[in-house]
Amino acid sequence: MSEFMKVVRERRSANKFIDNIEIPKKVFEDIFHELTAAPSAFNLQHAKYYVVQDEETNAKITKAAYNQYKAKVSSATIIVTGDKNAYQNALNIYEGSHMLGILDENELNDMVAMIKDLYEGWGEDFRHDEAVRNASLSAMLFMLLAKEYGWDTCPMIYFDQEQIREILSLPENEVPTLMITMGKMDPTSNKIRGARKATAEFVKFI
Ligand SMILES: Cc1cc2nc3c(=O)[nH]c(=O)nc-3n(C[C@H](O)[C@H](O)[C@H](O)COP(=O)(O)O)c2cc1C
Repeated sequence: MSEFMKVVRERRSANKFIDNIEIPKKVFEDIFHELTAAPSAFNLQHAKYYVVQDEETNAKITKAAYNQYKAKVSSATIIVTGDKNAYQNALNIYEGSHMLGILDENELNDMVAMIKDLYEGWGEDFRHDEAVRNASLSAMLFMLLAKEYGWDTCPMIYFDQEQIREILSLPENEVPTLMITMGKMDPTSNKIRGARKATAEFVKFI
């Protein structure tokens, strides 16, 4: 089995973490470095990460997650947000391509204008969906990378968005998309993986 297949098959949502284990800074550096390869619409890189390791802040985050025990004992609790205004940074992102000669001046301006028209023209729901969609894709890669580096995770949506917004002083344009608890899974609390649908139930070839 390839290393990738192992990561895919062995990633589980941790039911319980072993308390008092610290994640070395280098692990986060490596994960976030690789995470920059994640895809995003127009390469706008909408996802942002708030890595909470401080005990006092984590106590507040745990409360906002309705006291889910895994948030309390995880080594880090990570909030992934999606930026509804990521499109406003298009010029910064595409200027690099312009400098490298991949886009000429006109192509650069057209690209930035097209992105602006799309995100502003398609409205608030689209900007919200884009934030959630792009943050979610990034978060999945984050969890696979964490597993690759020997760490377990659990994606969580059972939290009070407004409390999280307040604790982290999130600006209005950032949508708290997912909480990811991370640490070393307690093997004594490992549940059998939940039943999965047969592929014919969720795949349609047309
Ligand atoms: C969007 C999303 C939200 C989830 N929210 C929670 C949560 O709030 N608390 C929790 O314990 N697990 C949560 N989970 C984990 C799921 O229960 C888990 O992924 C599912 O049961 C499949 O198990 P597995 O990931 O180990 O294969 C969430 C998963 C996803 C994808």
